[in-house]
Amino acid sequence: MPRQEVVLVLDFGSQYNQLIARRIREKKVFSRIVPHNITAQEIRQINPKGLILSGGPASIYGPRVPKPRKEIFELGIPVLGICYGMQAMAHMLGGKVTKASHREYGRAELAIDDFKDIFRGLDKKIICWMSHGDFVSKLPAGFKRIGHTSNTRYAVIADKDRGFYGVQFHPEVAHTPKGNRIIANFLFNICGCKGTWSARSFIAESVAGIKRTVDKEKVVCGLSGGVDSSVAAVLINKAIGRQLTCIFINNGLLRKGEAERVKKTFRKHFHINLRYVNAEGRFLKALKGVIDPEKKRKIIGHEFIRAFEREARKIGSMGYLAQGTLYPDVIESKSAFGGPSATIKTHHNVGGLPLNMKFKLVEPLRELFKDEVRQVGKELGLSDEIILRQPFPGPGLAIRIIGDITKARLDLLREVDAIVLNEIKKAGFYRKVWQSFAVLLPIKTVGVMGDERTYENVIALRAVNSVDGMTADWAKLPYELLGRISNRIINEVRGVNRVVYDISSKPPSTIEWE
Ligand code: XMP
Repeated sequence: MPRQEVVLVLDFGSQYNQLIARRIREKKVFSRIVPHNITAQEIRQINPKGLILSGGPASIYGPRVPKPRKEIFELGIPVLGICYGMQAMAHMLGGKVTKASHREYGRAELAIDDFKDIFRGLDKKIICWMSHGDFVSKLPAGFKRIGHTSNTRYAVIADKDRGFYGVQFHPEVAHTPKGNRIIANFLFNICGCKGTWSARSFIAESVAGIKRTVDKEKVVCGLSGGVDSSVAAVLINKAIGRQLTCIFINNGLLRKGEAERVKKTFRKHFHINLRYVNAEGRFLKALKGVIDPEKKRKIIGHEFIRAFEREARKIGSMGYLAQGTLYPDVIESKSAFGGPSATIKTHHNVGGLPLNMKFKLVEPLRELFKDEVRQVGKELGLSDEIILRQPFPGPGLAIRIIGDITKARLDLLREVDAIVLNEIKKAGFYRKVWQSFAVLLPIKTVGVMGDERTYENVIALRAVNSVDGMTADWAKLPYELLGRISNRIINEVRGVNRVVYDISSKPPSTIEWE
């Protein structure tokens, strides 16, 4: 199995880094974001087909300037510098960068001087997106101008012999309509990439890699039933089979039928060595009388770790802990200004890392974006029901029951939740919205059923559209659907006599109510 081709994105602090990485991956070439000061030796080990120097907020003459190491230009690997990355390259190779009297932002018309290589297949003039203060005013030896705008003489420069290209604009953004073609030209014409990345090739390489890393040791994996840990578990199982033990902890805060579903999928379908722990009693005892949302989270995280450790100890010595950490969870690079921004989120879907146990980590998905994880999951045979599920918070229904959590309230919310899910799916909205769920409120209101006065619970429905969960807007679900959900809940779930719909956006409201 040949090693997959990789293109590295050197991070100079651009807000578009992830976008550059994405654009490359869309062309089936694997990409990775690395710190701007990566050494030539480190690059050699990765053996990439090309380097992209990202843009960034710095000025080459400013204080604490992030610069690439000079020796990376001697590796014989093609380089594309974007905006600041172009200026840094020009500066390092003996050119001159000058501060502009006024900054240039937004749309510009680029005139192309040379239609080979990076501009192959493009028109004479293309629209591009500029965002810069400094500009290259003298070319380094060996470079030629291959594109210009009315404002920027050296808008695109190249040393074709060495495969070095610099663009002052941003080819990765949608406002440069032909930017994709330019990136593709760099990858395929200049770096010689073939575009062979696929879920299948990733799986083959991962399986070999996991086998090599883990060798004969045992691996334990916390399974939550969510997409990431499920894909990680199935992938590792494919590599090492019975050396993997998965632990699934039922914290009593799960959706209706969830525990059974997870057991069935992973034991029966994938033949994974799964240990099921029913810790409902412990969780509910620890949560008794707790109202504060953050306290609830802490208790749940703590109980999870204890339950996980207890079970893991029973299995005996384990060398590795498997986690479904994804690429966006891992900010690999240091910030362009030198301060370490390497932040690794604890994988809160499984409640955080066991603290008192010493494990090495195996994280086979840590270089993938979510949609790539889904592709890998599909290729591994996981059902759409798992792969395409809406996010479900680690603390589960505990943060959807406002106030005190009891078994009775959990059971009530589970029934309601099942109806919401069922109706949303039937109406074809499950995949159209980011999340859709029910919240149980801590108040009772008056109603009338038949000739009887009732005094019962209120359910709030929440459905939001979002791209990443950071901001969200309430989903404009059809009134008929909302009406149907409301009717079914009130008719079928004893103890609910009122349903309301949450029409707040995030910010200022959050998606979850706690
Ligand atoms: P909020 O409520 O902060 O939610 O707008 C944003 C996204 O994060 C999920 N969420 C959590 N996920 N543990 C999790 O694993 C948590 O404690 C937690 N709190 C919120 C939420 O469901 C939404 O997708």
